[in-house]
Amino acid sequence: MPTISFVLDGRPRVEEVVPGERVSDLLVRLGARGIRKGCDHHGQCGACTILLDGRTVPSCLLLAPQIHGRDVTTIEAFSRPRVLSALQSALVDCGVVQCGYCTPAMVLALEDLLARVAEPGRAEVTDALSGVFCRCTGYEQVFGAVALARARLRDPAFAGSPAPEFREDLLHVGKVRRKVDGALLARGGRAFVEDRVEPGTCHLKMLGSPHAHAWIADIDTSAAEALPGVIRVFTWRNTPALTYTTAGQSWPEPSPYDRRMFARKVRHVGDRVAAVLAETPEIAEEALGRIRVSWEVLPPVFTPEEAAAEGAPCLHSGPLSFLTGAPADLDARNADADPRDEGIHYCVPIHADPRRNVAASVSGGIGDVARGFAEADVVLDRTYSGGHVQCTPLEPHVVLTRMDGDRLLIHASTQVPFHLRRIVSRILGVPETRVRVVKEHTGGAFGAKQDMVVEDVAAWATWVTGRPALWRYTREEEFVAARTRHPMTIRVRLGATRDGRLTAIEMDVRANTGPYGGHCLTVPMNACSKSLPLFLCDNVHFEVTSYYTDIPPTGAYQGYGAPKGSFALQLAAAEMADALGIDPLAFLERNRVREGSMLEILRCLGEGREGRAQRVSSCGLGPALERGAARIGWGRREAPGRPHVRIGKGVAIVQQGSGLPGVDAANAAVTQNGDGTFLVHSGGTDLGTGLDTVVAKVVAECLQVPMDHVAVLAADTDVTPFDAGAYASSGTFFSGGAALRAAERMRDLLLDAAARLLDEPRDGLAIAFPGEVRGPRGTVDFERIARATQSGTGSGQLVAWGSFVTDEASFPYGAHFAEVEVDTGTGAVTVRRYAAVQDAGTPINPELALGQVYGGILKTIGHSLWEEMRFDSEGRCLNPTLRDYRVPMIGDLPPDVYAELVCTDDPVGPYGAKSVAEISCNGAAPAIAAAIHDAVGVWIRDWPFTPEKVLRALGSL
Ligand code: FES
Repeated sequence: MPTISFVLDGRPRVEEVVPGERVSDLLVRLGARGIRKGCDHHGQCGACTILLDGRTVPSCLLLAPQIHGRDVTTIEAFSRPRVLSALQSALVDCGVVQCGYCTPAMVLALEDLLARVAEPGRAEVTDALSGVFCRCTGYEQVFGAVALARARLRDPAFAGSPAPEFREDLLHVGKVRRKVDGALLARGGRAFVEDRVEPGTCHLKMLGSPHAHAWIADIDTSAAEALPGVIRVFTWRNTPALTYTTAGQSWPEPSPYDRRMFARKVRHVGDRVAAVLAETPEIAEEALGRIRVSWEVLPPVFTPEEAAAEGAPCLHSGPLSFLTGAPADLDARNADADPRDEGIHYCVPIHADPRRNVAASVSGGIGDVARGFAEADVVLDRTYSGGHVQCTPLEPHVVLTRMDGDRLLIHASTQVPFHLRRIVSRILGVPETRVRVVKEHTGGAFGAKQDMVVEDVAAWATWVTGRPALWRYTREEEFVAARTRHPMTIRVRLGATRDGRLTAIEMDVRANTGPYGGHCLTVPMNACSKSLPLFLCDNVHFEVTSYYTDIPPTGAYQGYGAPKGSFALQLAAAEMADALGIDPLAFLERNRVREGSMLEILRCLGEGREGRAQRVSSCGLGPALERGAARIGWGRREAPGRPHVRIGKGVAIVQQGSGLPGVDAANAAVTQNGDGTFLVHSGGTDLGTGLDTVVAKVVAECLQVPMDHVAVLAADTDVTPFDAGAYASSGTFFSGGAALRAAERMRDLLLDAAARLLDEPRDGLAIAFPGEVRGPRGTVDFERIARATQSGTGSGQLVAWGSFVTDEASFPYGAHFAEVEVDTGTGAVTVRRYAAVQDAGTPINPELALGQVYGGILKTIGHSLWEEMRFDSEGRCLNPTLRDYRVPMIGDLPPDVYAELVCTDDPVGPYGAKSVAEISCNGAAPAIAAAIHDAVGVWIRDWPFTPEKVLRALGSL
């Protein structure tokens, strides 16, 4: 093997290299930290960035000999124990370090910039980060972080706050406190699944279907099995025959059990055919090429219209079964079941009709819509649609499984460790005690990792072979076989009086759930339940139908159906305002929800079970509209200065929920250490959004101790109590709520113990900072309480549990404003300015909350203007790379993006907190579409709003 010599982080190295070895692979082999992989060696994500002779390069594009004689710098060079550089600390403090998967690359690129340019401006920062993809942050806070780093370099005592703070009455909550895992991530520390891989780990690779719809007539794996280094080949013949849903939802899941690990039928291009477990990824790849498959190809369907057509090919033809609510004619329905098909099991009835490709359906409403339309002076009937977008977390789906004695250990990048354990245990046929799931840091999730995408196969492979297994999706697999947002077509009918009062609303949602029914009921229902309650209207009706088709699988994606529903209903409202000749902002103000409003419509929107009407406990929509309008200059017409360019403004109001009341639950425990500090065991799943910091803050707040007196251990099914997981905007509300309950109980225990030690009545005692109990006659600190209770004569170590369940809903609200420029010559739409003002209750982590709003804005500007998966007529994805799909890079950021938080004190959430992240995805599409109309007078009702669609609407194509 050839030998190269180079300098790595200041130390000379001489290494033998494998012919063809990439520098990124070499560095990972040598144990370098922070060399991440977000694309398939295409140099498109920048996660493997290094400094080569002081300049940034993606190391996956270099072959090892190209660094011979050169100087290589990785994040290691900027990573000193317990100390962060000025830049690293600024990135953490400004909320730029969310999941942290891109952070080493960002640090290197910006350290390089700061070394070259004394006072970098926005253009220089944009240029420096132009090759680094970050899906979490939306980049905007990077500019502030660089400025803060410069200020700290000039003056190490610089004390300026990187973000606005809230709630003067509170010590930590609402204040900028360093993210508890921020330093680890800023140093590129070992935190992700890939960092747990040990020598001897085997590799899984999947053979994906070339057909969108086909039976596997025969499959021959003998040549693959004969290849040296192949451990096992898995197909439908040697894997469990039971069906399940991959949707990580609370049991009983509303999603149908309609897939098995490997089926005899494939239902989309890229669907599972066979998997190889081998000693190396190269052997696994070669073995895949030796598998021979005979196909019985079937005609596919790709749209709800095709799926619903008379005589359409049926995707699921197996027998149906029900845990509860079986229909009376079940035997008749099963009479024509195909024995080759695995069948579908329903935990709850979801009004499906698989023989007609209907995966789920529901309808409901309040009042009398016929009367409402009869009362209206204007009735408007419009149809809106949206395409197929991908979550694109920078870290693809990845899992590492290994045996720990006779138990299975799963290192997972997941949103739902406890649901994952439940589903995997059932597949393996073992009690949950035999399976442990450790949630590692996730390199971005956004809903995509609510589903069990890779864990079932890896778990089975390790369970039956005893060998550790790593399975990591390629970026192409991420596009064709992970999870995407449901495409939907939504018809909206609105009725309104001449003076702008809504009298009737009808929504008919047709969703494309793809080959399997994960989230097939709940996502399209959310399109209704997160949009209809924004308007106070007495007569409302909705219909939801979800269809099986042969597109890549759909699932959860930040917003969970709400972005599509919001686009349809908010744009329809803008169209109605236009038809009535009323200012759109005034129309929203006239009809919008308010604090105290009773939301009767939610009685019909219970996600597979009975819903519950909810009263709005807090609502910051009024100030959000007011401040957003001021920021965007609502009513002021901007002069473009170029004859073929027009400028327009649009507005949308948005809402989301805070977890699933009556469905989900969270638990936590607070234990006192011997020195009086605390360890929190939280079931909550931090996805990089700062949940562990929320947990630490609410406990430190409640117990009045410094932040570093609280450590958080989270999301390990062996160690931490049950939590439903991080989805449905539940983290702060549910997991934070459980931590607060546990802390409140700990406070009671501390007061009881102090009363005994001080020999005073408990009633006169109070907790005080920095961790003591004060009474009229004396004070005892927490350490003395701990030493006393944990002594041989004590009452025992103080441990407090907290559970959070609720039937009350807390809704975050927001107002989003866009100002766009439309080029009437090219049809190009450019967002010039964007303002999002959101009511998140009490923002517990203000800088991270703002970061999630910025992230949501840029994601959905991408969805609105250009992001879309494209397919050929056979169902093959034509753009399965980050560049061809075109994820937003820092250069796509509008020049003026503004996010602001309105603080309301919600009565249910911890310290008045509500959710903040998902809601930020609901405003861009309707606000931009309305702005396009304001600019050029055309309504684009299908997103993304591509130049072709704009030109066609203008009559120029
Ligand atoms: Fe950049 Fe997550 S923080 S990808």
